[in-house]
Amino acid sequence: MSEDTIHTGIFGLDEMMGGGFPKERIILILGGPGAGKTIFASQFLYKGISKFNENGVIVSLDEAKKHYYHEMSKFGWDFQKAEDEGKFAFLDATRLSRVAMLKEKMLSQGASSLRGKQLSIDKLVEELEDKIDQVNAKRVVLDTLASLFYRFIDPIERRTAGIDLIEALSDLGTTTLVTTELSQLGLQRKLTDEEFLVHGVIIMQPMFSGGRSVRALQVEKMRGVNVNSNIVPYTIDRNGIEVFPKLSLFRDR
Ligand SMILES: Nc1ncnc2c1ncn2[C@@H]1O[C@H](COP(=O)(O)OP(=O)(O)OP(=O)(O)O)[C@@H](O)[C@H]1O
Ligand SMILES: [Mg+2]
Repeated sequence: MSEDTIHTGIFGLDEMMGGGFPKERIILILGGPGAGKTIFASQFLYKGISKFNENGVIVSLDEAKKHYYHEMSKFGWDFQKAEDEGKFAFLDATRLSRVAMLKEKMLSQGASSLRGKQLSIDKLVEELEDKIDQVNAKRVVLDTLASLFYRFIDPIERRTAGIDLIEALSDLGTTTLVTTELSQLGLQRKLTDEEFLVHGVIIMQPMFSGGRSVRALQVEKMRGVNVNSNIVPYTIDRNGIEVFPKLSLFRDR
């Protein structure tokens, strides 16, 4: 492994990207519902702590801490213990999520101004910086950008917010995974601004092969790294996620 990369913690993945993720960069994890984005990102954090002595922070927009810790304990990942040992911090950002916004709307306070929304993102980044300092984090996860986007109905506001957030995350000095939803599949799929802005993109999606559905992963891009961009199968089991780079589903396009 070169000094410029960081182990992903995902079995089989490092060898697809010359040793791991580019250090101190932002990687986008794109996938549909249930693809395993949260598990992927959490495995990156937990293995960082338990195997590589690299502490982490998660910014969770979808799940509150208690539920998240419980779900992750099913993989043997004890985030509560990591937190107690000062190796991990959980930043609860569910107040900014789509659920929170739906509630706001129901209470007719939905017309929060753009300034208000921007302020809340700025505040989130400030809180994240504090958590990073607190545990001396090298790894950060934001799960998921899609939930934040629900706050912005106007597409231009949404683009600006996405760009601003990614810029802010670039300055943190951590290796950061940002999960988001994959809205379209296939070759006609439009690339989003985020995909252009980040250093790496990994896509997780179901595919049909030999008449059955398999989970498929592709390293779409990883700047500065020689990648295996074949579409390869991955599995989720009680140990987490494993990628099988030698079992390409399709050859390079
Ligand atoms: N022990 C396990 N064995 C096999 N599959 C599992 C196991 N635990 C979870 N899964 C699978 O993992 C998937 C959920 O993973 P995860 O929550 O990371 O997905 P996600 O992409 O974050 O979804 P969402 O968009 O809903 O947040 C489901 O498809 C579920 O079937
Ligand atoms: Mg999830």
